Amino acid sequence: MTLSNTLVALAAHPQGMVKESDMTLQTAPVPALQDGQFLVKNEIISLDPAIRGWMNPGTTYIRGIQIGEVIRTFSAGQIIESKHPDFQVGESVWGLLGAQQYALSDGAGIVKADLAKGPLSWHLGVLGMPGMTAYFGLLDKGKPQAGETVLISGAAGIVGTTVGQIAKIKGCRVVGIAGGPDKCRFLTEEMGFDAAIDYKNENVLEGIRYTCPDKVNVFYDNVGGDILDDALSHLAWGARVVLCGSISQYNSTDPHGPRNYMKIVTARGYITGVIVFDYFNRYAEGINDISAWIHAGQMHTREDVYEGLENFPATLLKLYTGQNFGKLLLKV
Ligand SMILES: NC(=O)c1ccc[n+]([C@@H]2O[C@H](COP(=O)([O-])OP(=O)(O)OC[C@H]3O[C@@H](n4cnc5c(N)ncnc54)[C@H](OP(=O)(O)O)[C@@H]3O)[C@@H](O)[C@H]2O)c1
Repeated sequence: MTLSNTLVALAAHPQGMVKESDMTLQTAPVPALQDGQFLVKNEIISLDPAIRGWMNPGTTYIRGIQIGEVIRTFSAGQIIESKHPDFQVGESVWGLLGAQQYALSDGAGIVKADLAKGPLSWHLGVLGMPGMTAYFGLLDKGKPQAGETVLISGAAGIVGTTVGQIAKIKGCRVVGIAGGPDKCRFLTEEMGFDAAIDYKNENVLEGIRYTCPDKVNVFYDNVGGDILDDALSHLAWGARVVLCGSISQYNSTDPHGPRNYMKIVTARGYITGVIVFDYFNRYAEGINDISAWIHAGQMHTREDVYEGLENFPATLLKLYTGQNFGKLLLKV
């Protein structure tokens, strides 16, 4: 029997702020399984800020989504049919399986989810791609040392909260920048941050000077724009600036880079970028450490879960207006 697949496809390359009408819900038959392939029934879809960049035409570190193609997402589910020697029916997996009910895969880039380490949804968040971004971006690129100050923008999101908690475990002073009093309270009262700056209601540069009296040794940037310039103004000697994302610029028709870049020179620091895919072969390291920290009560995670593929477009938009509070997920 041929299965019918419901999927969210790209209807138009967004101009400026992404709109619901840039995406469309469609149905299509699931193609027959070939040797070396398996079929996944997606249970949860991850909504990640990078999707906005992937909707642009052209190629950056990954090919842009073409009009009519399923929206590229990390998704997690169970294998229901397999002609692949390494993937068995009943196994839970996650990877770039798309905003759809069913996904065919040849196993490239697919990770088996060890449910003993946490529920499937965590494998799209703290134990998944965003958790790995935080782990390797901070530890491999930021190289935090005990006693140093780590400043994080976009701090209340899944990457930011994971970075901050790892930095605390490594003995750092941790300051987060987030939008609104609720997210700032969450950072200091639930995520163990030492201080938080509300960029929507405070002067960010003054907040950084006040909360980072010894200046900033590691700036982990998820936001870009003016917040990046403010952080560059207050770097300690030898500071490391990790560019992870620039969500303030993703929907801009005229994105701008840092104006204060010469501060890197006076601080004898460096700016570096991180792309999580480069660490694929080391994910097990990050997954093992993070799950151990969670089970030891040293780390926590928060999820923001919606339901129904038809709600994918409206849910995605929440990321770019700060309406999500925790890892944004959609149950299929
Ligand atoms: N380099 C990589 O390999 C890689 C991998 C994964 C993620 N990332 C990047 O990591 C960053 C965080 O991702 P995430 O999954 O943890 O998302 P998230 O923080 O859970 O959600 C996005 C948050 O960004 C903030 N935001 C939205 N528009 C903003 C603006 N104009 N100015 C300032 N903040 C804004 C909002 O928080 P507020 O309410 O606080 O404004 C929103 O809740 C993103 O930039 C993403 O692209 C990079």
